[in-house]
Amino acid sequence: EKGGFASFMAKEIADQPAAVADTLRGRTDQTGRLMLDEMHIEESVMRSVDKIIVIACGTASYAGQVARYAVEHWCRIPVEVELAHEFRYRDPVVTEKTLVVAVSQSGETMDTIMAVRHAREQGAKVVAICNTYGSTIPRESDGALYTHAGPEIAVASTKAFLAQITACYLLGLYLAQLRGNMFADEISDKLGELHRMPGKIAEVLGRMGEVETLAHSMADATSVLFLGRHVGFPVALEGALKLKELAYIHAEGFAAGELKHGPIALIEDGQPVFMIVPTKSGRHSLHAKVVSNIQEVRARGARTLVIAEEGDEDVRKYAEHVVYVPRCPTLMAPLLTVVPLQVFAMELATAKGLDVDQPRNLAKSVTVE
Ligand code: M6R
Repeated sequence: EKGGFASFMAKEIADQPAAVADTLRGRTDQTGRLMLDEMHIEESVMRSVDKIIVIACGTASYAGQVARYAVEHWCRIPVEVELAHEFRYRDPVVTEKTLVVAVSQSGETMDTIMAVRHAREQGAKVVAICNTYGSTIPRESDGALYTHAGPEIAVASTKAFLAQITACYLLGLYLAQLRGNMFADEISDKLGELHRMPGKIAEVLGRMGEVETLAHSMADATSVLFLGRHVGFPVALEGALKLKELAYIHAEGFAAGELKHGPIALIEDGQPVFMIVPTKSGRHSLHAKVVSNIQEVRARGARTLVIAEEGDEDVRKYAEHVVYVPRCPTLMAPLLTVVPLQVFAMELATAKGLDVDQPRNLAKSVTVE
């Protein structure tokens, strides 16, 4: 039930700290080693994996895109992320050493089911990352790693997305542990970072009044752009998808680095642009590059709506509005930066008088190809 919230979506957004915490719970032994026994894939097979292909649709595919940055960095295994409906029609290169990761909230998405079948026919091992026990995708896979987000009722996916990123990160760290890519203390540092995220997500949720006000002031928007880089790029795609499905507004997400290669031509006076600003820390921070993108679109009249980490004063000069999220390591940031975009889409749809749980033309799970 809605538990006093105006919609299932509002409740599910509020449930996100628990969705992440519950997905992390019980995955380590007393010594802190990751134990993903439920995967049922032999360790020797996991050690020999030479390529990972994530197959998924919609929001689940964006979780895969976020995870790619982490898993390649931690495990040094090439990761491809492919929309499930494109995967089997392009004659993909899949061998016994390919690990296919099928990400699905419902476990019943027909495109993803068909892609799983195709991958297994080619000899790949398939792990399902799924939120629904006993559903088709985990049943047809070699193994499963369940997200523990609890039932997601609203058509627009929110808490499942955060739980999917969390589960993909667990899988990445598990592979790094098995293959010796990282020392045990590095892995426990990363797990510690993950365990600190629910508290930070709750902090973000506590500040969403300002996003609600912003969304209600933009009820007549006809187009919104979303820009991000690195892990902020799939977050931009997800922000755009949420706005399309809930508020029926034309929205597009771009990699901020593409701006000069075309999209900047769209910028005119009053065009709203969300910018997801990378963290400043990290060896190859893209922070300065995105700040200059903000400046570029602002100079052309864009309304710059910025999501940045606390303490980032550099963005203020060119931002019409800044939503600050708590500081965290770069790879963890999507768990925070996506939340204001979910709330923005939900509130804008609410301001337009739309049903946020049941947007037009959409079903919760797409069980036909
Ligand atoms: O159940 P699944 O995770 O397989 O569903 C995949 C997509 O259909 C789903 O994420 C869809 O894009 C949502 N409506 C997004 O909010």
